[in-house]
Amino acid sequence: MTEKDFSSNSFYFDLLEWYDSQNRRLPWRAQSGVTPDPYIIWISEIMLQQTTVKTVSSRFPEFISRWPSIKNLAYAKLDKILHSWQGLGYYARARNLHSCAKIVVKTYGGHFPQTEIELAALPGIGAYTAAAISAIAFNNPVLPIDSNIARVLSRVNAIEDPVVKSMPLLIKKAQELARAERPGDFAQAMMDLGSLVCKPTKPICCNCPIHKSCKAGNFHNPENFPKKLRKKMRPTRWGIVFWAKREDGTVFFRRRPLSGLLGGMIELPGSKWVPKNNIKFDRKTAPFPARWHVIPGEVKHSFSHFNLVLKVAIGETKYDHLKIDGFWHSPHQIEKLALPTLTKKVIKHVQRHNKTA
Ligand code: ADE
Repeated sequence: MTEKDFSSNSFYFDLLEWYDSQNRRLPWRAQSGVTPDPYIIWISEIMLQQTTVKTVSSRFPEFISRWPSIKNLAYAKLDKILHSWQGLGYYARARNLHSCAKIVVKTYGGHFPQTEIELAALPGIGAYTAAAISAIAFNNPVLPIDSNIARVLSRVNAIEDPVVKSMPLLIKKAQELARAERPGDFAQAMMDLGSLVCKPTKPICCNCPIHKSCKAGNFHNPENFPKKLRKKMRPTRWGIVFWAKREDGTVFFRRRPLSGLLGGMIELPGSKWVPKNNIKFDRKTAPFPARWHVIPGEVKHSFSHFNLVLKVAIGETKYDHLKIDGFWHSPHQIEKLALPTLTKKVIKHVQRHNKTA
């Protein structure tokens, strides 16, 4: 066989035929022959931005039964949405979800716009998500490129470069493939193929429905396509947080600024997170004067771009300290608050310490 024998036509239809019988039955996917609901597709794509298919599959049904339509979501309390977002990754996405629902209800009468450009103008919808919604919900002839699709395209076309470098070429290849027949199914078929068959390591070429169209699969070792970039080391930052307890047993919490990391989420008061391991207890960083003492051990947490190590200082006060921005809350009823994993880890650390102290 020569490279000339490859036909993107055959690739397109072979893959769709495979998808019709082998696709993953995911809770947000419309049954064959049923028109997808753009609200359902939008929620699933936002959840899938940084969360695995497995986690989203288990969390999606509950979210949808709680807020079954865009109107329900637009009129919901943000705190309730944030609370149900626990474990689904960055809370900025839940915040944007709410803003987006309000805009779609107010500006578009509750109906999502259909083009990539209009979709990408909405909060929380970037270029990839706009293309995915446009293809899957509205059957527009576009092919979103996520990491699975980038890998499949790189292998089919034997493009060796790392994806960041080859992206313009991958976009061109995606545009050649995206066509009017069944763009939504085709996009999802590419995602499924990348996840089930054309895996990053040990691709199962013998089970691949498009093996005959795959240049890397026929002429090379597909595992070498595309090349990976070496991962950058994640830097570490250090900080100290304060477990301030009042006589009635409540603990002092505060809300983080709305923008930035963990925007608007609840935390314990603490120092800045600095790139040097020279954090010492310092009266000025404490929320108020008390007899603070630093407890043994550390709390470790990884964010996508840095690791964090926190020391914890414990102190007691009689006063309300009402002038400080924050609130007192019982640590035993914290499940009622929307807490990020980091804050939960600190609470656990203190509770473990108190048990053994
Ligand atoms: N990853 C992102 N979007 C997806 C989808 N619609 N189906 C499966 N995996 C995905």
